[in-house]
Amino acid sequence: MLVFGKIMLVYYIAWNVFFNYSLNENQDRAALEFTPACDSPDIYRKGCRIMKKIRLGVVGLGHRGRAMFRIAAQNFDSVEPVAMCDIEEKFWVERQTFPGNESASMKEDFPSAKFYTDYDTMLKEAGLDAILVETPANKHADFCMKGLEHNLAVLSDVPFAASVDEANRLWDAAKKSKGMFMAGANPNEMGFVEALVDLYRKGYLGKISYLEAEYIHDCRSLWEVTPWRARGSVPIKYCTHSLGPLLRILEEDLRTVSCHSTGSWICPENPAHNDLMTATFSTESHVVFRLTTSFINNAHIGPHTYRVFGTEGYFERFSGRGKLAPVTFFSSNKLYGAKTLTELPIDTARPEFGSKAGIGHGGADYALLNRFLQAIEGKCEPISLREGLRMTIPGIYAAESAKRGGELLKIVYPWE
Ligand SMILES: NC(=O)c1ccc[n+]([C@@H]2O[C@H](COP(=O)([O-])OP(=O)(O)OC[C@H]3O[C@@H](n4cnc5c(N)ncnc54)[C@H](O)[C@@H]3O)[C@@H](O)[C@H]2O)c1
Repeated sequence: MLVFGKIMLVYYIAWNVFFNYSLNENQDRAALEFTPACDSPDIYRKGCRIMKKIRLGVVGLGHRGRAMFRIAAQNFDSVEPVAMCDIEEKFWVERQTFPGNESASMKEDFPSAKFYTDYDTMLKEAGLDAILVETPANKHADFCMKGLEHNLAVLSDVPFAASVDEANRLWDAAKKSKGMFMAGANPNEMGFVEALVDLYRKGYLGKISYLEAEYIHDCRSLWEVTPWRARGSVPIKYCTHSLGPLLRILEEDLRTVSCHSTGSWICPENPAHNDLMTATFSTESHVVFRLTTSFINNAHIGPHTYRVFGTEGYFERFSGRGKLAPVTFFSSNKLYGAKTLTELPIDTARPEFGSKAGIGHGGADYALLNRFLQAIEGKCEPISLREGLRMTIPGIYAAESAKRGGELLKIVYPWE
């Protein structure tokens, strides 16, 4: 009887193992057999799951919001353009006439998308999966927080907070949300920045001791179409384009800052303007980072310059100057033949994106949206809120330091 019992037990275990194996195999096969349905235009694959298209909305239909929504909807099969929101209906119905950029209205281009003047209503009614936040530069965080409360995937344009309090609240909102925040740091995705990161990771630059960035862009021609730019320029707060790419190779956060402003020389009628601001940041291990920003100037250069000094090498990206095109150089003691300054054959575009590589800010916008959409599908990591805030918060402290005549301030982040 005991022997019979043992035989039955072995038989039972063997049958179960076989049965479960067959079941799993059949389930896998069923999933595979369903694969051809993925060719349907309405669905795309998320890992092994079949997902509907990403229902995309945008808040803020200024030049930037319209451009980003168009790039997303017209270049990525996974996107379904569903809804748009602006307090001004004209940006939906009127043709776009931004200098150098003429096109049909958003209403004509996206007839099936619904337009809202109220963001809360759009969030409640439109059934979105993802939202682009393209409101004025000092008004992003509240829109992002609401998107996160609805558990959406949120792509925020730069900068990601206008004050330390906003940064803390955004940090808390992201922790509570089941959605995803991605920092819309488009320069981080540029081709020459990828090259810099690659050189650094391969050890060609050694340890980094000093970094420098400049963002010089006379924005006065934009004052009429974007009045928030005309109210009082504090360019050091618009620092993500400059800090973001270089912080990719700096493992420490920026810890202290002292900043000075020229004040308003060129438009003295508005003392709220700071023509040019320059900040010196330092990390705990005394890596120094100098940043100069100016949105009111007569320089006709720019906009972006970056320099990196390492123990084994050097990297620089110079913006255009008059007829001189932008150029990227590096040198390294660690690479045979590269001890002298050597030009790198890379610009802003990412060659791997082929015919789409140049779309939007020399390809940075396409690369950014590609990353956002891939991150929603779980295929890569988003540019995280932490990365976004470590390139935003130093500028907020820098502006405060400038107000206090260059006082050295300690920078504190929400994760501390
Ligand atoms: N990453 C980049 O390369 C890049 C380039 C240009 C601009 N930007 C950023 O993009 C953002 C938008 O810039 P822009 O030039 O299009 O400015 P803009 O002023 O033309 O656009 C902002 C839009 O937001 C709308 N808006 C304001 N409050 C709103 C509300 N409560 N609800 C709905 N809509 C509201 C305004 O009516 C306006 O149409 C800014 O933050 C700017 O800094 C980023």
